[in-house]
Amino acid sequence: MNKALLIITMLLISEAYSMETKFLETPRSLKQVDFTKNLTPLFKDRLKFKPIIPDIIKNLDAIQIGDGPKTEAPADQAELKKLFKNLYGQSVCDISKGNSPDIHRKLRVGMILSGGNAAGGHNVVAGLFDALKEGNKESCLIGFKGGAGGILDKNYIEITPELMDMYRNTGGFDIMGSGRTKIETPDQFAQAYKVITELQLDAMVIVGGDDSNTNAALMAEYFKDKNSNVVFVGVPKTIDGDLKNQYIETSFGFDTATKTYAELVGNIQRDAISSRKYWHFVKIMGRSASHIALEVALMTQPTWAIISEEVKAKKMTLAQVAGQIADMVENRSKAGFNFGVVLIPEGLLEFIPEMGVLIAELNDLLAAHGAEYAKLTDFKAQSEFVISHVSKAAGETFKTLPENIAKQLLLDRDPHGNVNVSAIETEKLVSDVVKAVLKQRGSKVPFSAVHHFFGYEGRCAFPSNFDATYCYSLGRTAMILAALKKTGQMAIVSNLKRPAEEWHAGGFPLTSMMNMEKRGGEMKPVIQKALVELEGKPFKFYAANRDSWAKGDDMFAFPGAIQYYGSREICDQPTKTLLLEQS
Ligand code: FBP
Repeated sequence: MNKALLIITMLLISEAYSMETKFLETPRSLKQVDFTKNLTPLFKDRLKFKPIIPDIIKNLDAIQIGDGPKTEAPADQAELKKLFKNLYGQSVCDISKGNSPDIHRKLRVGMILSGGNAAGGHNVVAGLFDALKEGNKESCLIGFKGGAGGILDKNYIEITPELMDMYRNTGGFDIMGSGRTKIETPDQFAQAYKVITELQLDAMVIVGGDDSNTNAALMAEYFKDKNSNVVFVGVPKTIDGDLKNQYIETSFGFDTATKTYAELVGNIQRDAISSRKYWHFVKIMGRSASHIALEVALMTQPTWAIISEEVKAKKMTLAQVAGQIADMVENRSKAGFNFGVVLIPEGLLEFIPEMGVLIAELNDLLAAHGAEYAKLTDFKAQSEFVISHVSKAAGETFKTLPENIAKQLLLDRDPHGNVNVSAIETEKLVSDVVKAVLKQRGSKVPFSAVHHFFGYEGRCAFPSNFDATYCYSLGRTAMILAALKKTGQMAIVSNLKRPAEEWHAGGFPLTSMMNMEKRGGEMKPVIQKALVELEGKPFKFYAANRDSWAKGDDMFAFPGAIQYYGSREICDQPTKTLLLEQS
């Protein structure tokens, strides 16, 4: 790394940004919101949409679960075997045609929607609810309010047919709310056990991402250890798209979120070629992985998309990342294009080697000495505390950061000990470094930057037909796993590039996705995040095309808004990532 260049470019950044401290677990009112007076025509119509049910799970009287291959975790098998002595090594569950009388058991099922919102959550509830009632009219579904916190507080609602009908095919998690509380301490496990047992639940369905499903596995093991028959089933949710493997083709919400962002980026591109005077820097949500930025790039063909995983593999510094963009600014200007659109994954900073080291050390520091640190009120004292506790190299990196970015890195961690990457204004940082590099080169080309952050806009849109249908099938599959007593499994629906009628369904053991990682300063079992694979087809397709997309003004693509009604070709297409991966 050219550290001197990094320091110079950082020093050239003079703008100060305003940033409010954000507390991640602010107390929430869990009051049900009544929006029924304001139903838009689309809302009313979406309530009536009927998701297609894959043939394999259509008839509950013609279903059986067979054992697929036995599984192993991808790493740290010995530690995981000790931690999950009941569940480790389970088989994959294959759903096929057959007969299983247990499907008609009367069931009391609890569920939570956990973590960040993702379009389609209400259809998981609907698929689960409808299948439960179809299996046995007396079965019931209760939703714990506000995520896992609702279990601990015994705060729940029963899902009634009337309530369910107001939420079908709509975005959001508001039917019961979501939260990021983690069940972690022995007391919390004991309390969860008490509440779930008191409510006489037969099963719990945990809808969440890697962290929430790790929690589902821990609870499944805890209950098994106590000889309880409560079945725990996970459902793969996250717009980030990083909960996937050879069995889980995609997490729900990714399709709708990327289509929403692609519409917005396409609109910005159209504005850019019309006005011809701005460089747009668009930060896109997705936490660590760049799946969302990559999918949006595949859909919109922007001037450039930074892919964090590539930055890390090439050990690029921030100055080098910005230098690439500065080259484009100069080259395009020569061709008469003083505009462009650059996509930036929100987790970029963690992948820049020296920043990654600093962030990891800060996470550990704040986990170990959080109380001491919390007493410091001014930034000078906080900086001194950080510099005196982290390694020399991390301290040096910290000192080069503009004050606003340093402050953002010190904001509260989420309950899993992660830095809140959404709060870091990486899009401004990158464009400022580009400006600084151009200035350093003595470049006279016009460069006027506009900044955007697309994140929350995409999480609660009306689910695309793909997500609406996928989620309904996931909910139905979760019911089948619960009824047939398959605990510790994640509901899976696959073969997704084919029409929904041909989708497959089953379960994949949660422990088989785990490894041991440092969280809050300690080694813990966690489901591995799937990052963008540089050898994978989606990235390779992007890498093969990006230079031509970067040159012209005629390469932008305009996907437009999600379409809900019309030909299947327009309305039911899965993401380009999924199509390329399965091609
Ligand atoms: P999950 O991993 O819980 O699905 O969260 C996804 C996400 O939208 C990330 O992309 C983003 O960084 C984060 O949530 C934002 O969290 P919050 O909603 O707490 O601000």
